[in-house]
Amino acid sequence: MKILVISASPRKEKSQTLLLAKGVLKGCEDSNTAEIIHLCEQKIEFCRHCEHCHRKILACILKDDVHKILDMMLEADGIILATPNYIDQVTGAMKTLFDRSTHFLHCLRLMGRYTAGVVSSGSGADKDVLSYLKHYTNACGAYYVGGISTRVPVGEEALSSASKLGKRLCRAIRQKKEFPSQTRIIEGRKNHFRKILQTRKNEWEEEYRYWADNNWL
Ligand SMILES: Cc1cc2nc3c(=O)[nH]c(=O)nc-3n(C[C@H](O)[C@H](O)[C@H](O)COP(=O)(O)O)c2cc1C
Repeated sequence: MKILVISASPRKEKSQTLLLAKGVLKGCEDSNTAEIIHLCEQKIEFCRHCEHCHRKILACILKDDVHKILDMMLEADGIILATPNYIDQVTGAMKTLFDRSTHFLHCLRLMGRYTAGVVSSGSGADKDVLSYLKHYTNACGAYYVGGISTRVPVGEEALSSASKLGKRLCRAIRQKKEFPSQTRIIEGRKNHFRKILQTRKNEWEEEYRYWADNNWL
């Protein structure tokens, strides 16, 4: 089982969000590998909306670290999305990465994978951030096992809840758990993109082929 932590704080090891995410990892004892990627150490440019990645899957014109990160996401069974609350949203680094992953949304590429959301903030009012992480997860076709957030500093109680979330994440991966309400959301998105892919058939050649190969059309 492979778990990937995407840490979106610029404070690296000083990050309270990372501390909480490590609490989630603690609950993932049976994961064979766990990898932490600090977005602040990666070169991540803004999406140019050239649509090249839709014509040729994941072939971005920008030569930075995003390709590697998206590959890591595809290889993971579970992804811990860890971000501080920046004005009731994920950090710009995480949003910029998400913007570069629209192919994942068009083709529901994270289907069969599971995520957990981790947020810290000054106030603890993180509902919108967690709900955005769930939204992104389902939009990519994956299941959101749950989220944890806390006001800083991260305390023992939050770490204990984080560890329980890690256990739930690994259990869901092991059991290939289904979340019926999220399946409905994912199906709804599939219906939406089916129509779009049909209209853009000649432009988004490889994404269209991906849909055809999956018998989704
Ligand atoms: C640009 C910026 C925006 C922030 N916006 C909020 C906010 O809207 N609400 C809040 O409660 N805390 C806010 N904070 C505080 C951080 O969410 C908080 O300090 C967080 O725990 C930092 O996480 P880190 O230690 O992982 O970097 C903000 C901090 C920064 C730097």
